[in-house]
Amino acid sequence: MDSISQYMQQHHRDCDALFTLAEASAADKDWASAAAQWLEFSEKIHQHLRMEEEVLFPTFEAETGQTQGPTMVMRMEHKQMRALLSEMSNCVEAQNQDRFLGLAESLMLLIQQHNMKEEQMLYPMTDRALGDAAAVLARMQAVD
Ligand SMILES: [Fe+2]
Ligand SMILES: [Fe+2]
Repeated sequence: MDSISQYMQQHHRDCDALFTLAEASAADKDWASAAAQWLEFSEKIHQHLRMEEEVLFPTFEAETGQTQGPTMVMRMEHKQMRALLSEMSNCVEAQNQDRFLGLAESLMLLIQQHNMKEEQMLYPMTDRALGDAAAVLARMQAVD
């Protein structure tokens, strides 16, 4: 069975791979591919954010009693990601390459720094705090 860390790290990698595809298509001005790949990436990353906000963070907060710590920072960064994602969706629709690629760089940086904090701190802390990772994983997988 996967730990929370293993499962969520793989989810990060899967999101990154989809993002890279969409970015490459936009760089080629292949907007039909970019739109399809962007949609796939958006759906996956929005699901990831919900899995964390609806299951993982509340579990972490309940197990550790920390509600003003790392999860608060992570929720704020999710908000910044959602703002960028929404702006970038508009760029895909408008086929605005310059703006899309500019925002893509900002989003990439934000995601890299955010994911590093989760992978090095939050996920391992959650794994250590949890009695039953399988039950939490199952609840996360049920988030659509
Ligand atoms: Fe996150
Ligand atoms: Fe994450």
